[in-house]
Amino acid sequence: MKFVRFIMKNAALASVPKHIEHFSKFSPSPLSMKQFLDFGSINACEKTSFVFLRQELPVRLSNIMKEINLLPDKLLTTQSVQIVQSWYIQSLIEILDFLDKSPDDYKVLGEFVDTLVTIRNRHNDVVPTMAQGIIEYKEAFPHDATTNQNIQYFLDRFYMSRISIRMLINQHTLVFDGTLNPVHPNTIGCIDPHCEVGDVVQDAFHSAKMLCEQYYLRSPDLILQEMCSNKKKNQPMSIEYVPSHLYHMLFELFKNAMRATIETHDHSNNLPPIQVMVSLGEEDMSIKVSDKGGGVPFRRMENLFSYMYSTAPTPQIGERTRPPLAGFGYGLPISRLYAKYFQGDLQLYSMEGHGTEAVIYLKALSTDSIERLPVYNKTALKNYKVSQEADDWCIPSKEPLDMSIYKVPK
Ligand SMILES: Nc1ncnc2c1ncn2[C@@H]1O[C@H](COP(=O)(O)OP(=O)(O)OP(=O)(O)O)[C@@H](O)[C@H]1O
Ligand SMILES: [Mg+2]
Repeated sequence: MKFVRFIMKNAALASVPKHIEHFSKFSPSPLSMKQFLDFGSINACEKTSFVFLRQELPVRLSNIMKEINLLPDKLLTTQSVQIVQSWYIQSLIEILDFLDKSPDDYKVLGEFVDTLVTIRNRHNDVVPTMAQGIIEYKEAFPHDATTNQNIQYFLDRFYMSRISIRMLINQHTLVFDGTLNPVHPNTIGCIDPHCEVGDVVQDAFHSAKMLCEQYYLRSPDLILQEMCSNKKKNQPMSIEYVPSHLYHMLFELFKNAMRATIETHDHSNNLPPIQVMVSLGEEDMSIKVSDKGGGVPFRRMENLFSYMYSTAPTPQIGERTRPPLAGFGYGLPISRLYAKYFQGDLQLYSMEGHGTEAVIYLKALSTDSIERLPVYNKTALKNYKVSQEADDWCIPSKEPLDMSIYKVPK
């Protein structure tokens, strides 16, 4: 029996490249928030969802697995990236197992939910494991010519794909496990049709404040203001959104703002508060987080969204005693992905010497909130072929120019 299972496992593994080739030829199908909501409420049909997911999940997995394979060998062969890759292969095999099963069999539907839960758990640590892979690669090859740009390009797409796959898995498992969410009975899966932004601001601020006090024994206060465009007066400041995504972004922004505020006002008894402005318009729901934490020099601004950059010491993987206030340097780039996932954005404006403003832009209408997904195609392929070439702008010299060499001879 054991031997038969071994043979079957090997056969499944051997056919993986063929399946990746097949499914990566399809483009992922982006869903709108409205579709997610309709699907999870009036039209909730587990069979339809099962049939959609057993095709769409292999498509999304295969599209990104093609890109993993394009990583430079030195990064791809690190132990951590190998582990991540093996998780993707295993999960793909497990979903493909359902391709020839009947959607009319309720046992199959139950097994599918269980498989999705197993997959979600398997992939819990993808972000820190991948981050560890990048660290291993940077340590082993500090002068490698592979540009940060290529890795940045890959990770943005890889993590966006992961966010989207988890969203699909969460919706299916939450909507069809048959139990109501006891804390938020009105949510549909992980979407709140009336997500009160102010409440999420308060929650995220409170959590960041507790963490901040553990570290620094003090923390700044919050001033929250809410504004509506005239047409939306007297309406609640809510949108149809995934509260956990919004919470994630705000928590990261608050941790950064608190750290900057405290480190800048080290010797002062008074900490300037962190101000939040929530504004709902016709198109946008914007949330601005402002601090007086001394800001960031303009030269460093573009580094802030880089996966290869943090001013905090690198945490060791497995060091889980206390969640750090600043760590891998993934707070901003991952938060921006959450914002972009439903067609929003996250931007930072800073004035060195004063402070920083971070603005989260979200779509006010659920019809505009449509998944933004990477697709593997020739354009993507080209981006992995870009190598470091000479800049087409002169690099300014730091040395003062010796003008005497330009003296016109008499
Ligand atoms: N509000 C801010 N004021 C000043 N500097 C900031 C602010 N927000 C971010 N930064 C700078 O940007 C860097 C990157 O921020 P980011 O949140 O991405 O990573 P991190 O805070 O270092 O680590 P973590 O992954 O735990 O968030 C920070 O290390 C910090 O130097
Ligand atoms: Mg941070």
